[in-house]
Amino acid sequence: MTPTRPTPDAVLRARGLVKVHGSGRAERRILDGADLDVAPGELVAIVGRSGSGKSTMLQLLGGLDRPDAGTVEVAGRWVAAPGGGPGERALSALRREAIGFVFQFFHLLPELDGAANVLLPATLPGADARRLTARGRALIEQLGLADVAALRPHQLSGGEQQRFALARALIADPPLILADEPIGNLDAAAGALVLDLLRAAAGEGRAVVMVTHQAEATARADRVLRLEDGELTAQRDGGVEVHATG
Ligand SMILES: Nc1ncnc2c1ncn2[C@@H]1O[C@H](COP(=O)(O)OP(=O)(O)OP(=O)(O)O)[C@@H](O)[C@H]1O
Ligand SMILES: [Mg+2]
Repeated sequence: MTPTRPTPDAVLRARGLVKVHGSGRAERRILDGADLDVAPGELVAIVGRSGSGKSTMLQLLGGLDRPDAGTVEVAGRWVAAPGGGPGERALSALRREAIGFVFQFFHLLPELDGAANVLLPATLPGADARRLTARGRALIEQLGLADVAALRPHQLSGGEQQRFALARALIADPPLILADEPIGNLDAAAGALVLDLLRAAAGEGRAVVMVTHQAEATARADRVLRLEDGELTAQRDGGVEVHATG
């Protein structure tokens, strides 16, 4: 079957996502038909108890893992298509061009200093090195990291590592930004800085999805969704609290 063309009006569109871990009696459906649309300019927060599948969800949305069923489209391209998805090469190109990922546990390269981690995309073949380097330097400055830019990850605090990881995700100005607990390790001032940057990224017409436990983060989101029993439901839609019925 030829998949129908992905629709370009939402930056992110996920339909019927299913993810099963384990097998036999140990089988657990972590995601069980989750749907999500995020428009350009939107900052969406996903909340849910520990182990509910939030990181799993982001990994499927970002093409870092493949769903057992369901589809994901990013900027009009298939990340997970009906009956399969792009091959590894196409998927890694799509991740590089269209998706900025801030991991829960940073994933900075240990042998590179902070600045080199951020500027890594500028060194890839075909990259616009001048533009990316300028953007990376500006982000390092904005995030208050200039003084520690020459330190390697093991010499950085958790909050500093998190901000370098954010700068790396923003450097190529991707249409979709996925952030897993982006202020989880930060004090109030650094957290506010990160939320400002994510808001600004949405303001430039990007779609931003962040997983968070923190009220100061959900307060900055346009919508708050709760992941529970493998599905996403609205907890706050715009300024309005949504109360589950039935
Ligand atoms: N590779 C795997 N194999 C088996 N189970 C897994 C695997 N990856 C995740 N899980 C399970 O899936 C569930 C969801 O994990 P996930 O990391 O998505 O939770 P989370 O909502 O992000 O939690 P937290 O808030 O603690 O970060 C957990 O119970 C976890 O043990
Ligand atoms: Mg998680």
